[in-house]
Amino acid sequence: MSAPQKIVVLTGAGISAESGIATFRAADGLWEQHRIEDVATPEGFARDPALVHRFYNARRAAAASAAPNAAHKALARLQAAGRHDLLIVTQNVDDLHERGGASSVLHMHGSLAGALCADCGHRWPAPAVMAQEDPCPACHAAATRPDIVWFGEIPYHMDRIWGALREADLFVSIGTSGQVYPAAAFAQDAARAGAQTLELNLDPSALTAEFDEARQGPATRLVPAWVDSLLA
Ligand code: OAD
Repeated sequence: MSAPQKIVVLTGAGISAESGIATFRAADGLWEQHRIEDVATPEGFARDPALVHRFYNARRAAAASAAPNAAHKALARLQAAGRHDLLIVTQNVDDLHERGGASSVLHMHGSLAGALCADCGHRWPAPAVMAQEDPCPACHAAATRPDIVWFGEIPYHMDRIWGALREADLFVSIGTSGQVYPAAAFAQDAARAGAQTLELNLDPSALTAEFDEARQGPATRLVPAWVDSLLA
């Protein structure tokens, strides 16, 4: 029997859009309504921690009231089938992959489910509503922040992700605009190492031309169809 096909899937805000979670760069997206420098940088947090917590508390509430959609569930089905060596990497900070049934997901931009002490680096599960004054359970500092990777910070799990991209037979990008590095370079990284590349996105992205194949449409249609074809 031949070795299972190695697949790396990268997801972005577009996979959660049909669950009702706002994307970042749509005309009515999060970055139209908030300045990145205010709510998604360490400097913004230092200036106005209450504003930053309000922003992520609202994101946490929106994620909690959203349900996983057919695209999240299709990826979980592919993982559960166990016929491929599949790594799911997400830029999303919601937990819809997990609630859709995925057992293993790398959150490269962190997670709304986590709290992080800006003083000592301790991590713990985030309550529904967080504030900077919440004392760190380890060092008791009032320096609580969301466990989200902000601009200017290093995304999580990068050694594991780059290792998987080097080994991949297929790289699939789902619902991401390709505007934020290092994720925006994954297609090229994988292609350089010999993988086929496929983009599934509502519209052509900044990176569409770099992929071997690109399909356009809503994730809830494209992802289940792609998974069905792999498992057929
Ligand atoms: P964006 O908002 O930049 O892009 C979302 C992409 O999803 C766009 O290309 C849309 O066309 C596509 N899309 C929208 N609805 C879709 C649907 N129903 N089906 C398929 N595709 C759909 O979001 P990301 O690319 O995820 O980082 O943004 C990357 C990072 O930028 C985020 O993780 C966040 C942000 O700043 C941090 O906060 C660190």
